[in-house]
Amino acid sequence: MNVNFKLFLLAFISIVTVACNTKQKEKENFINEIVEFATAQTELMLTALGEPTGNNYPRRIREDGTVGTTGMYDWTPGFFPGSLWYLYELTGDDKWREEATKWTETLEPLKTFTSHHDLGFMMYCSYGNAIRLAPKPEYKDILIQSAGSLSTRFDERVGAIKSWNRFRPWGDTTVYHFPVIIDNMMNLEMLFYASRVTGNPQYYDISVKHSDATLKNQFREDFGTWHVVCYDPESPTVLGKFTSQGYSDNSTWARGQAWAIYGYTMTYRETGDKRYLDVATKAADFFLKHLPEDLIPVWDFNVGMEGFTPGERSNAVVFKEKLRDASAAAIVCSALFELGQLANNQSYIDTAIEMLRSLASPAYRAELGTNANFLLMHSVGALPQGYEIDTPLVYADYYFLEALVRYRNLNK
Ligand code: GLY
Repeated sequence: MNVNFKLFLLAFISIVTVACNTKQKEKENFINEIVEFATAQTELMLTALGEPTGNNYPRRIREDGTVGTTGMYDWTPGFFPGSLWYLYELTGDDKWREEATKWTETLEPLKTFTSHHDLGFMMYCSYGNAIRLAPKPEYKDILIQSAGSLSTRFDERVGAIKSWNRFRPWGDTTVYHFPVIIDNMMNLEMLFYASRVTGNPQYYDISVKHSDATLKNQFREDFGTWHVVCYDPESPTVLGKFTSQGYSDNSTWARGQAWAIYGYTMTYRETGDKRYLDVATKAADFFLKHLPEDLIPVWDFNVGMEGFTPGERSNAVVFKEKLRDASAAAIVCSALFELGQLANNQSYIDTAIEMLRSLASPAYRAELGTNANFLLMHSVGALPQGYEIDTPLVYADYYFLEALVRYRNLNK
């Protein structure tokens, strides 16, 4: 090697090293600034809530600007403890572990709950993170019992877990008794966990059967998703396909699509079945293709379009504004960090980083002490039902923090 070439090589290596260090520093600063904000904002939230009572889990903002809470039997109580666990993971500060533990352990009575399918969200976002970050022997039993409770909603004849006990479409009078919603994919992670730690394949088998039924019936040719698929309660026959929280029965609800992407990414991680990876990537490509420039989706991809008509009782008949849904973006952002790694697709990871930056920008991130002390603004919970319209939502914050953890852990 001649001297000139050696010098050139050294200069080149130095420039690349400086550029990498600068990029790494910039990433650290970005994460630290969000963590500083999130911890300060969540301290205010804890002060507003007081001690956990089982009846004061934060969910949304009220009209008077204060925090709106729910009881533990609603579908969202796992997210706030989960966010506290992520703050513990991001800071290592025992204070967050103690708060997370309190808000998690208050949920123990849910382990026998069987009235709807959301037990995975309720128990795995709380106890699932608890057992990962600060395990206690009883957490394992609580999660296994919760998996047993969720499994009672599986029906072998249908090959799926029943989401809700009944469903009436917005434009119809028929009542269906075996509705399955795309969101249900998210509840399977707890079942996979239970099979892993017990060695009992029952929960794994249920998850695979449910994933297969959803794969067969809940996707359209373009890999957009149906929100609600109603089965005959005694067979795998599909009686109808509808929406509950989307714009119209045949539209693609952004958060439903987000659950599909996250759900099948997780199902691929747990099973290694390439069909699930394939559907996760196709669902992700559909989602990304329909995003506006700032990467935060309109709450439903078909609002106001020709050929998409809300059912007559839906609030979407009168509410046409193309509001964004930060919660759908946060879920997909987190999912893309994992999907990018599993699919070896750097462009998903680059997009996840851009989405995270968009969510963390002043357009979507609240200022300290505002927004009822939630982190993100501008989500849509249940527009057809007429509530949670352009609001903070606890699960948007949860997946935002999860995405931040995943970003921090990249290349570790
Ligand atoms: N059922 C979960 C959701 O509203 O996204």
